[in-house]
Amino acid sequence: MKVSMIGTGYVGLVTGACLAEMGNDVLCLDVDENKIRILESGGIPIHEPGLDAVVARNVKAGRLRFTSDIARSVAHGTLQFIAVGTPPDEDGSADLQYVLAAARNIGRLMTDYKVVVDKSTVPVGTADKVRAVLAEELGKRGNPVDFAVVSNPEFLKEGAAVDDFMRPDRIVIGADDERAILLMRALYAPFQRNHERLITMDVRSAELTKYAANAMLATRISFMNELALLAERMGADIERVRLGIGSDPRIGTHFLYAGAGYGGSCFPKDVKALIHTAAGEGQQLEVLGAVERANDAQKRVLGQKVLRRFGDDLAGKHFALWGLAFKPNTDDMREATSRVVIDDLLSRGATVCAYDPVAITEAKRIFGDRPGLSYADTPLAAADGADALLVVTEWMEFRSPDFTELKAKLRQPVILDGRNIFDPEFVRAFGFDYEGIGRAPAGEAGGNAGADAGQPGAGA
Ligand code: NAI
Repeated sequence: MKVSMIGTGYVGLVTGACLAEMGNDVLCLDVDENKIRILESGGIPIHEPGLDAVVARNVKAGRLRFTSDIARSVAHGTLQFIAVGTPPDEDGSADLQYVLAAARNIGRLMTDYKVVVDKSTVPVGTADKVRAVLAEELGKRGNPVDFAVVSNPEFLKEGAAVDDFMRPDRIVIGADDERAILLMRALYAPFQRNHERLITMDVRSAELTKYAANAMLATRISFMNELALLAERMGADIERVRLGIGSDPRIGTHFLYAGAGYGGSCFPKDVKALIHTAAGEGQQLEVLGAVERANDAQKRVLGQKVLRRFGDDLAGKHFALWGLAFKPNTDDMREATSRVVIDDLLSRGATVCAYDPVAITEAKRIFGDRPGLSYADTPLAAADGADALLVVTEWMEFRSPDFTELKAKLRQPVILDGRNIFDPEFVRAFGFDYEGIGRAPAGEAGGNAGADAGQPGAGA
């Protein structure tokens, strides 16, 4: 099938490459000419595991091409995917200017039947707006060309995007046009892997499904983070609580990890947008409002732990920071906790040396030449002469450091673990003063040392 992908970012590039992998003829469009130049010269503008191989293979086979020529893109695909950004507006609503600009371009230039697919995360009612823009543009030309608008929200996770797209647990299609549904079914048939994973529904329900999923996941995290703060006060260990409740199949084990707050390009903005959508309908989403407030506060927890130990004036103090990306396996720093932590420390006069396996270039772009902030080539180099090590992102490579060497590098053997990647007892045995999120202080919580070892997110 001929597919045009409008927007070649995290979602567009992965979707385009994976659709090409199944034999489709995909043309990816972006208004960012620099991005297109990088892709045309064989580079990949983002860090996403496994993506480079899929892109290279399909470019070589002639099934995946890139362009910044809008007319070429509109002419190419019967399926026109809109995968542009929907960042938060000042009032928290989703800014639809890029989605509607893409729709306008299609309406302005299309000459035959198109299925316009909203892949971006968009509020309920956006498909109607896209439809109206297409009709308006076609009306201006007096050119009655048939089209359909479909909602096909994306559930891939950055850091595992290729795998998620190739092996989806569900494919949601919101449509009311039979011909469009047939085309979408055919497009996604190779991804079904002998099980029905395609869920068709009306457009509005599909649009809401995406927000509902992210809001539910964000809620689980904020809930656990709040309980973690309570666990700290009460001398309990949130990691043990997590194991205790996650074994209940009604609760399940995923997304129960306490930490220094969620970030990324999706949860914060989608929670905001859903709150805003509901408010527009005269409804306050009380639970989600609390989820957002709890998360904003949680991003400051690491900074507060620093202040409790070192006092309000951090002049002359130096900190090592492991992890800049909002989560492992990505270079994405949108809404990353690291940004809040760095701001908090620098604004109180501290200096920070940061390490991240892939996000340092992005951090340099964001922070520029910020005085007091430097970067290291290795985790251990970042720790050199630091008064404490702050773990902000749970990269695999941070989980089993040489603790003896780490201790020798630090000026003070303090670890503030914002992702609970270490086993407190194990680390304390090396003489570290260790604090996680929601973990009992040394000697408390029953002394069941090592009970968590081997569990994801627990000890080394
Ligand atoms: P992104 O910012 O990485 O990519 C968007 C791209 O669209 C940019 O390269 C931009 O230059 C381009 N663009 C903007 N206007 C354009 C236009 N009129 N024509 C052509 N290109 C245009 O954004 P990302 O992360 O890929 O997100 C896209 C959408 O997918 C958002 O709505 C997001 O909420 C949603 N989403 C994102 C996920 C993620 O993990 N990043 C996961 C699931 C959904």
